[in-house]
Amino acid sequence: MVTLRQPAALCVVLCLCLCSVSGSYPKAQNVTWKSNNFKTFLTWEPEPSADYSYTVEYSVIGGNKQRNTHCIRSSAIRCDLTGSLSDLKANYTADVLSEPPQGAPSEPGEAVYSPSTRFCPYRDTNIGRPDFRLEASGDNRKITLHVVDPPTALFEGERQLNIRDIFADDLQYLVTYWKSKSTGKRVYKSKTSVIELTDLEKGKSYCFIVQAYIPSRTLDKQKGEESPIQCSADDNQSIFEVYSVGVIAAAFFLILLLIGIVIAIVVVCWKRRKNAQRNGREKVPQDV
Ligand SMILES: *[C@@H]1O[C@H](CO)[C@@H](O)[C@H](O)[C@H]1NC(C)=O
Ligand SMILES: *[C@@H]1O[C@H](CO)[C@@H](O)[C@H](O)[C@H]1NC(C)=O
Repeated sequence: MVTLRQPAALCVVLCLCLCSVSGSYPKAQNVTWKSNNFKTFLTWEPEPSADYSYTVEYSVIGGNKQRNTHCIRSSAIRCDLTGSLSDLKANYTADVLSEPPQGAPSEPGEAVYSPSTRFCPYRDTNIGRPDFRLEASGDNRKITLHVVDPPTALFEGERQLNIRDIFADDLQYLVTYWKSKSTGKRVYKSKTSVIELTDLEKGKSYCFIVQAYIPSRTLDKQKGEESPIQCSADDNQSIFEVYSVGVIAAAFFLILLLIGIVIAIVVVCWKRRKNAQRNGREKVPQDV
């Protein structure tokens, strides 16, 4: 009986050992694309122990799997695929394989891997906040926004491409604007990067936010990050708009106070003088 049990136990132990060596590395989790202005990373978790590493394989959907030399048996938990996804309008997927550490021999059999979701650079990369300059016409009735198309991580030879180079006519800008100190917001869509707004009230200050807008994308990916707010100058502000009520009240009070002091001084002086005159008149007969 004993001799029968021992080989069975040995078999179980051997099997456990083999299983833990071949293909039982932890699977990558939370495999996610992170992409801004065409700078694209695949990220995942957790950090690997010294016992294993990760390799990334990517492909156009249905195409051959490829590897990026920087993401083979690496202990990093992200892979820069910016230069690898060269067909911007293609749909890509990637797998994160759990493999033996660098230098260790490969193992036969299926590697453990986690697949990513589908990613298309043209449709999915986030567009960062644009920068813009305000130019007001003489009477502030017309304001021109000069938007700088955000640069991307992509190059054509030496030249860095901006989002207009890539999206061309698909790129629009969304301008959200409102009269200073009012809440009513208006939105203007522009196909160009130089944007003229002409329906403004004369002499009023307006505030603007600009963001890229790509109507050909799905709804949740159409709008880029919002620029910081910029406001135009208000060239004929009344005194009540420039200073708060408190400041005006304080100034008014100060003026009243000054007038009061002046009146008090005048009255005191006048009384003294009158007294002096009376005393003088009273003295005169005494002297005589
Ligand atoms: C994956 O993401 C979830 C939710 O953000 C988090 O709770 C979990 O810890 C992550 N997994 C790993 C291995 O970090
Ligand atoms: C990529 O996928 C989207 C959505 O699944 C699809 O509409 C589009 O036609 C695909 N593009 C290509 C080039 O296969």
